[in-house]
Amino acid sequence: MTEPWWRQAVIYQVYLRSFADSDGDGVGDLEGLRGRLDYLRRLGVDGIWLNPCYPSPGADHGYDVSDYMDIDPLYGGLSAWDRLLSDAHARGLKVLMDLVPNHCSVEHPWFKAALAGDREMRDRFIFRRQPNNWQSIFGGPAWTRVDDEWYLHSFAPEQPDFNWRNPAVAEYFDQVLRFWFDRGVDGIRIDVAHMMYKQADLLDWPGTGHNPHMSNQPEVHEVLRRWRRIADGYARDLTLVGEIWVPTVDDLALFLRPDELPQAFYFDLLMCPWDAGRFRDSITRGLSGAGGTWTLANHDVHRSVSRYGLLTRTGGPATRPRGEVDVALGVRRARAAALLTLALPGSVYLYQGEEAGLPEVLDLPDSVRQDPTFHRSGPADYGRDGCRVPLPWTSTGPSFGFSASPSPWLPQPRWFADYAIEDQIDLTDSTWTLHHQALTLRRTLSGPLEWLPTPRHDVLAFRRGSLTSVTVFGDAPYPTTLGTPALASTPCTPDEIPGNTTAWFVE
Ligand code: GLC
Repeated sequence: MTEPWWRQAVIYQVYLRSFADSDGDGVGDLEGLRGRLDYLRRLGVDGIWLNPCYPSPGADHGYDVSDYMDIDPLYGGLSAWDRLLSDAHARGLKVLMDLVPNHCSVEHPWFKAALAGDREMRDRFIFRRQPNNWQSIFGGPAWTRVDDEWYLHSFAPEQPDFNWRNPAVAEYFDQVLRFWFDRGVDGIRIDVAHMMYKQADLLDWPGTGHNPHMSNQPEVHEVLRRWRRIADGYARDLTLVGEIWVPTVDDLALFLRPDELPQAFYFDLLMCPWDAGRFRDSITRGLSGAGGTWTLANHDVHRSVSRYGLLTRTGGPATRPRGEVDVALGVRRARAAALLTLALPGSVYLYQGEEAGLPEVLDLPDSVRQDPTFHRSGPADYGRDGCRVPLPWTSTGPSFGFSASPSPWLPQPRWFADYAIEDQIDLTDSTWTLHHQALTLRRTLSGPLEWLPTPRHDVLAFRRGSLTSVTVFGDAPYPTTLGTPALASTPCTPDEIPGNTTAWFVE
């Protein structure tokens, strides 16, 4: 039996607002993306995942949906989306949409009716006379008062949580899924796929931090099974990839049972510090129970360059650490990490801009930051704007080729010129070219991973078919008899791999 297309695919994550702007309003759009599909073909990815682009007031930039079966005019509307899908398919690129089932927008017609006093509509959300003590994931209380009742929002107040215990909610999402599958998508990324159900009695949670009553309830698996049955009813192969933050790989594996999700992001690796032992353990666990859906960055975390280049952590969550960053070291390690990841069996989700080695923009002025995380968590967390700054395509021109407007929705720092994507394409040693070559060579790889012994704790080596991949995590060069690598994240000599480097040797 041949493998489904998604099993070894590399999917490029498009944060549409920041990818390419066609109409000069400073916000990326579908026509901008359509104009760059050849770029994505050339890079060598297999498909794209679009962050939410449905009609939305934008309190969480699209993760507050007011209509699940349309496209926001800001991005070009449904006709632009149809054109995009058709052009992507003509180039052999798959297209994944982002489904947001835990909550909608306060502008969704159901919530508006609920606020107007419709009891049946109120039951589609979680309204109570008394709030409990739960905290929103973005900071602050998870409840907002409207009259003599409060409603639950696991994220911002503009994102009311659905009541999945009301059958109308499940029926509605069946329709939404069918709408996009019928329209031709190849899969769906499911936003916080572990959160739809809350602990039934909404009990207080005495601890601080992660609150197990707000997520990972057993009933959620029924929803995923239901969606899997819908997806399996189509003649073509569709994927459902879950965004699931659960404590252990065993918890994650439950979502990947044969009748549930085909894929779930493996965030354990993304959270690993630059350490050989930690990477090896994480990869081993990921291969045994997590199905091998690798990713090193997305629109919610600091870019890999800035995470791996962190010298000392002074605060912030693990995904968005604060502290001094050595950018050159970060670029070097991020290149090594990317090459290592691209050698693994399974699929890879590549966040836009990572192929150019773009660092996080850490010094955005507070006055331009838009992420509700930043505004609700206070200065402890920079929030997620720094990884969402519009891409630099060229080193000159208004907004570095992103838009005809000189002022994109988030300002780009001057140093973005040094990372201009188009300038990297013809350079043999650029981060872009490394990704391009790795994506090309990766197509020849197959088979399981077999760890190879190494005499040093800071070196990881494994074999996959005819490929041997060696990563030196430490600073000291590593002598090797494997000869000249087919590809390396930093130049090697025939007998030595430098520190903070991955090298691929092909028999
Ligand atoms: C997910 C998304 C994030 C969003 C949140 C609420 O974690 O990745 O960007 O803010 O869900 O929808």
